[in-house]
Amino acid sequence: MLSDSMRGIDILNHQPDKDLHLITMPMPRVSGEQVLIQVKAAGVNRPDWMQRQGLYPAPIGASAVLGLEVSGIVVAIGPDVTQLAVGDAVCALLNGGGYAEYALAEQHCVLPIPQGLSWIAAAALPECLFTVWSNLVCFGALQAGETVLIHGGGSGIGTTAIQIARLLGARVIVTTGSTEKVERCLGLGAEIAIHYQNQDFVEIIQQVTDKKGVHLILDMIGGSYLNRNLQCLATEGRLMQIAIQGGNQAEIALWPIMAKRLKISGSTLRNRDHQFKAELARQIHHNVWPWLAQAQFSPVIDSVFSLADAGKAHDRLNDTQHFGKIILEI
Ligand SMILES: NC(=O)c1ccc[n+]([C@@H]2O[C@H](COP(=O)([O-])OP(=O)(O)OC[C@H]3O[C@@H](n4cnc5c(N)ncnc54)[C@H](OP(=O)(O)O)[C@@H]3O)[C@@H](O)[C@H]2O)c1
Repeated sequence: MLSDSMRGIDILNHQPDKDLHLITMPMPRVSGEQVLIQVKAAGVNRPDWMQRQGLYPAPIGASAVLGLEVSGIVVAIGPDVTQLAVGDAVCALLNGGGYAEYALAEQHCVLPIPQGLSWIAAAALPECLFTVWSNLVCFGALQAGETVLIHGGGSGIGTTAIQIARLLGARVIVTTGSTEKVERCLGLGAEIAIHYQNQDFVEIIQQVTDKKGVHLILDMIGGSYLNRNLQCLATEGRLMQIAIQGGNQAEIALWPIMAKRLKISGSTLRNRDHQFKAELARQIHHNVWPWLAQAQFSPVIDSVFSLADAGKAHDRLNDTQHFGKIILEI
């Protein structure tokens, strides 16, 4: 018998930039195609921090509690759930609510725990894999033999993208912000890692591609990177914009787009519909789960915090010293 209450993280007074507090809150109740997961671990992502700042509101109907991914055990199922049962060990992409002892997930966003993977490692998978797979494979159509530039190689997204792009047979170039992260990105499979604070990535891309450019760019910076990215793209190159850490506004040079027949695409995962996420889950299960089973792909875990220390986990995210994923253990 489930309790009526649980512990979870609340943003004090629901005001932007306020502290995170562990409080007692109502237990979520399943309906329709939802399952209730007893959370073992939850991933911390930059969108959580943005939501805390009031910059990334939860979609209508989603939990106001932060947290976009968890691992744990299914403890209740809604009346329309057909693919899962109580007791299943799972990881799930959520619309919110992960920083808590229990979280609701739609059944089509739930995947089985890959064999041999810890709760912590499994919680690090959904948000980054769904984002990376959709941008590199579904929108970006990355092909074996192509070259991809990944900005923010040391991020949760970057450490996932390096490995997935390599497994797809691409040549990987990354940018990152410290000598240590350069070394670690190379260790993960990047062929070239550019220290963007003291190297010009446009110059280096020209040198290492014999001025041909890269076929795909995964960019989380935006702003002044836009025209520099266009300079780096090869003929028929594709730019995948997933964040704007460097600014929302940019003046765009149109000629390179015309002359090289470039494509610029942008997306956010959270607001996509059930069908889209269900298809992503299917493709990821089919393609990435075997790589996980054979240890060809592993999430990179930077650090683990207790649920009560969610604020410290956010501090760690913000000092940008981290490499890979930050996890809350519940
Ligand atoms: N659109 C979507 O669907 C979607 C989904 C999930 C995440 N995202 C976005 O993807 C990004 C990564 O998410 P995350 O959770 O993995 O965040 P994260 O681990 O906090 O990574 C952010 C990283 O960006 C790097 N960075 C900052 N300025 C940079 C620059 N000028 N050049 C290269 N790297 C730079 C920093 O590393 P350095 O030390 O290397 O600077 C930092 O570690 C975030 O912006 C997030 O909002 C988008």
